[in-house]
Amino acid sequence: MNDLVRYERRDGIALITIDNPPVNAIAHAVRQGVMAALDRAAADGAAHAVVIACAGRTFIAGADISEFDKPRGKPDLPEVVSRIEGMDKLVVAAIHGTALGGGLETALGCHYRCALASARVGLPEVLLGLLPGASGTQRLPRLVGVEAALDMMISGKPISAAEAREKGIIDEIIEGDLVDGALAYARRLVGARAPIRRIRDLAVDASRLPKDFFADYRQRIARQTRGYFAPERIVQCVEIATRLPLAEGHRLERELFEQCKASTQSVALRHLFFAEREVAKIPDIPKDTPQRPIARVGIVGAGTMGGGIAMCFANAGLPVTVLEVDAAALERGLGTVRRNYEISASRGRLSEAEVRQRMGLIEGALEDGALADADLVIEAVFEDLGLKEQVFARLDAVCRPGAVLATNTSTLDLDRIARATRRPADVIGLHFFSPANVMKLLEIVRGAQTSPEVIATAMGVAKIIGKIGVLVGNCWGFVGNRMFGQMIRENQMMQLEGVPPERIDRVAEEWGMAMGPNGVFDLAGIDIDVKVRRGRPDKPDDPTWCRVSDLLFEHGRLGQKTGSGFYRYEEGSRTPIPDPLVHDLIRAEAKRLGVARREIDDAEIIERMFYALINEGALILEAGHALRPGDIDVIWVNGYGFPRYRGGPMRHADAVGLGEVLAGVERYRGRYGDRYWRPAPLLERLAREGGTFTGWQR
Ligand code: CAA
Ligand code: NAI
Repeated sequence: MNDLVRYERRDGIALITIDNPPVNAIAHAVRQGVMAALDRAAADGAAHAVVIACAGRTFIAGADISEFDKPRGKPDLPEVVSRIEGMDKLVVAAIHGTALGGGLETALGCHYRCALASARVGLPEVLLGLLPGASGTQRLPRLVGVEAALDMMISGKPISAAEAREKGIIDEIIEGDLVDGALAYARRLVGARAPIRRIRDLAVDASRLPKDFFADYRQRIARQTRGYFAPERIVQCVEIATRLPLAEGHRLERELFEQCKASTQSVALRHLFFAEREVAKIPDIPKDTPQRPIARVGIVGAGTMGGGIAMCFANAGLPVTVLEVDAAALERGLGTVRRNYEISASRGRLSEAEVRQRMGLIEGALEDGALADADLVIEAVFEDLGLKEQVFARLDAVCRPGAVLATNTSTLDLDRIARATRRPADVIGLHFFSPANVMKLLEIVRGAQTSPEVIATAMGVAKIIGKIGVLVGNCWGFVGNRMFGQMIRENQMMQLEGVPPERIDRVAEEWGMAMGPNGVFDLAGIDIDVKVRRGRPDKPDDPTWCRVSDLLFEHGRLGQKTGSGFYRYEEGSRTPIPDPLVHDLIRAEAKRLGVARREIDDAEIIERMFYALINEGALILEAGHALRPGDIDVIWVNGYGFPRYRGGPMRHADAVGLGEVLAGVERYRGRYGDRYWRPAPLLERLAREGGTFTGWQR
């Protein structure tokens, strides 16, 4: 039919095979090929039924996302789905791998669906800011009922073949070879004169829906979908499906799909889809760079981070040895790990056997020699350069040649740490985010001498433990924390100017941040910020700089752990309560420092925090500490609770317009001077040329 779609006949059954690697996206040429193959099958007098299958690793994984920005070529997917459904010969979809989005919609056009037991099906469009636009919102409720269809489309999560079979999406599970099994199934159906079943002929059974079902459903998903554009439109489509015939419902679905596709949110989420895959590509480290095998892991320090990191590896099935200074610290650390697992078990996320198995993989130690046969050692002791240098000198003495030596430092100079060993090429930063066993991000810090093999190994380690590894350069705070520092500076300066911390948090959260910066500080511990900033080599000579943290620290307000910080906390509670005492302290301090109080509106709160962040991002990019703007976005979305639907700070800057961002930076420079608000040259250049960060190439 064409290079991407093949037609053949096997014992009376037409077999249409789509072969568009890597994931059989149903691109324009594939759609053309399928239409031609269907015509041929219709005209083929010796073909009594049709099987649609895919070559390679998966059934159709959806529309080709890279085509969304181009004009839609004919035939479009809805035409293909409706042509399949309208066939007079029985059509069977043969599914392996993942049938996602347009892939599942294609299968829903078929009259029967069979699948391997390992297959998964789903409608993940919502994750791209879209809704299923090839009649999925109209067909799925007809097939599985309103609530099950909504759950699949709102979560975007694929389900297993077994579950799909239970719901009626899959009719037959095939064992052995899928194509042979599907052909045999089609023959059986023909032999039994099975009817041609068309979903368009089914009505949605809305009679059993409780009164107010849709209002209640909206309420139920409100928290999880806060700020997102597509979910409400998915609900609208399903409401439509309960009232209108499929063709009419599909027309309205198409309108809402186009709205979603044109939304800045969808552009942002599609950007992240590709950015999260591109981070794995490092220009000077080819894909075939050898990786060192990692079978045993050592961790130094069983504190907040060391314990969480140990869990990451135990969860992946790797044995871990955790080294501490004394038995009490070790017991405390391992006790916390056990408690965390038990909490998971009590919530039904782990079985008791799994808790035992994972704890069984974690072993405590007090002697350096216990790390002698580790393939990877991760240091997670206090954030103190001298201490880390000592630890690395000791690791150098005991670890076997070829072991990867990593530090979880969040700010310190990796090269200084590497120089404490005689093997700086084996030293790398693995910067986890708290809680380490939960947060997806892993910043992988490349030192001046880190070898390509060690970098490739670290990228592989991220995959093993289910993290998104992003390679960054060695500078104070690396990418995430260096940018966060700018945001914090403005946040605290605005507090001296009269904005209460809780208002800043509220505005940030309404803007989409998972948590406001002051709540984050109370959670992480204000003392950590204070100590880390004291060690900073480039501290500005400015008494107002992050002064509020220092002030709270001086008053013993370290955050949740002391029951007070930016907020106060009732005994045993984590609910932040605004504290007039804090307001008074800050007001008095502002007076002492001579900072004028002024009215600041919500727009300024957002601009000052995020323009400061973006400007720093541009400096980081130019300096090469991040490889691509998308890498910065991936870091912020996966490590700092930046709203996914804004695509990350650099993509957000593009959406605002770089001219506008630059004008804002210049405005604050006019008011506060050059020290913090000098525009990054890259921002200036791109704004002048009408460019974007995401379109920029080094
Ligand atoms: N379009 C274009 N490219 C795609 C793609 C798609 N739908 N899905 C995957 N790719 C590309 C990836 O970018 C990647 O490219 P590189 O190798 O160049 O980086 C390559 O295929 C392999 O992808 P993964 O690295 O993600 O491979 P994986 O094995 O880890 O996962 C997958 C495979 C589960 C299919 C995953 O790629 C995935 O979830 N894809 C997206 C599925 C999706 O969202 N489909 C819905 C599309 S929207 C739609 O269909 C709208 C509609 O209603 C018509
Ligand atoms: P922590 O204070 O909770 O734990 C440090 C642990 O190291 C303590 O249990 C201590 O007994 C142990 N330790 C100290 N010296 C040791 C030695 N010589 N040998 C063995 N163990 C030793 O500290 P936390 O928060 O876990 O931080 C550890 C590192 O992780 C720091 O470098 C920090 O900057 C970094 N980090 C912390 C994050 C956080 O949110 N807490 C986030 C990301 C990185």
